Amino acid sequence: MPEYIAKTLFGLEQVLADELRELGAGEIQILNRAVSFSGDKKLLYRANYNLRTALKILIPIKEGEISNEQELYEFVRTVNWSRFLGVEDTLAVEVSLSTNLFRHTQYIAQKIKDAVVDQFRERFGSRPSVNLDNPTLRINAFINDKIVSLSRDSSGESLHRRGYRVKQGPAPMNEVLAAGLIKLSGWDCAMPLVDFMCGSGTIAIEAALLSLHIPPGDLRMEYGFQRWRDYEPELFNEISKERKPAADEKINVYASDISADVVRLAQRHAQNAGVLKKIRFTTCHFNDLLPPPPPGLVIINPPYGERIEQQNLNGLYQQIGDRLKNSYPGYDAWIISSNAEAVKHIGLKPSPRIIVYNGQLECRFNRYSLYAGSKKTTKTTC
Ligand SMILES: C[S@@+](CC[C@H](N)C(=O)[O-])C[C@H]1O[C@@H](n2cnc3c(N)ncnc32)[C@H](O)[C@@H]1O
Repeated sequence: MPEYIAKTLFGLEQVLADELRELGAGEIQILNRAVSFSGDKKLLYRANYNLRTALKILIPIKEGEISNEQELYEFVRTVNWSRFLGVEDTLAVEVSLSTNLFRHTQYIAQKIKDAVVDQFRERFGSRPSVNLDNPTLRINAFINDKIVSLSRDSSGESLHRRGYRVKQGPAPMNEVLAAGLIKLSGWDCAMPLVDFMCGSGTIAIEAALLSLHIPPGDLRMEYGFQRWRDYEPELFNEISKERKPAADEKINVYASDISADVVRLAQRHAQNAGVLKKIRFTTCHFNDLLPPPPPGLVIINPPYGERIEQQNLNGLYQQIGDRLKNSYPGYDAWIISSNAEAVKHIGLKPSPRIIVYNGQLECRFNRYSLYAGSKKTTKTTC
């Protein structure tokens, strides 16, 4: 069994593996929506604090085969839970299923919780109680076909909850996805990055955090491992003070949107994240935004059509394509969309086309190179 498993979104496994390598992780292996790795406690804290493309860091406890509910119950009881919990502590169970054996995650979570607390009651005459929000131990159970994997969740609340968002804009992007797209684009943190459909500002804010070397953990209040018995506050303190050398603070992230309300919200989020100084915000139609001189990068997340008629959406994508061709020579433009029909109306040939998921929606993250004389290459240095 691997020492640690970092969970991520589909399509971001390689960028997460690269982030882990940079942090000094060993035995890195790419899995489906996850990367396994090894390291010490310091690395565990560092991973939670620094990784931009991880959702959770799990510590596997035990794996086994089961074929029904009773076997699941018995399997859970083969773990000595008093290694991780006392009767005065609290627990929560999170379940994901990829099996025909069971259908209801909540019911299975209940079964697993029963197995844990029954073990305590029999051994100690008393049991830990349930606390879904801030438990001492969050147990993660993944059932894949007949294999059940039990882990301790060291992160607690998902790591995409950075702590800067106060309110959702229209269709806000998951912070981990935004950070992953920026990394996939190969942005060098120096050239201008433009999101002319910025909504609540996720792409711009994640870009600014990355380029200012602000770890996502700086904004976070708490991690699951801080409630564990073996938590070492001095070690965590040390980790939270580690910094890459100071970064260039001049503005090179440009965020705009047609809606003044969402721009205000994005500004508030940027302020909370401590990156307002790095981003120039504008309220305008994308046709009215004047881009900084090339080379540069555009990353946008246009509407996919949940609330717009397809015909109008095709027109919107066509306008985006025209604007890119006419006003962004020397840029690379990356567009994420789940709407294959609308994407055709951009009128440019994408390469590469990377499959990612925005929530449940399968999307393509396409690059369009807008040549101005010779093609520029980008290289990640941040
Ligand atoms: C899917 S949302 C972007 C969400 C954003 N990535 C976030 O994390 O919140 C698409 C955005 O495009 C904006 N938009 C639509 N038409 C536009 C136009 N013509 N010019 C500029 N922005 C536009 C909308 O106001 C909306 O905020």
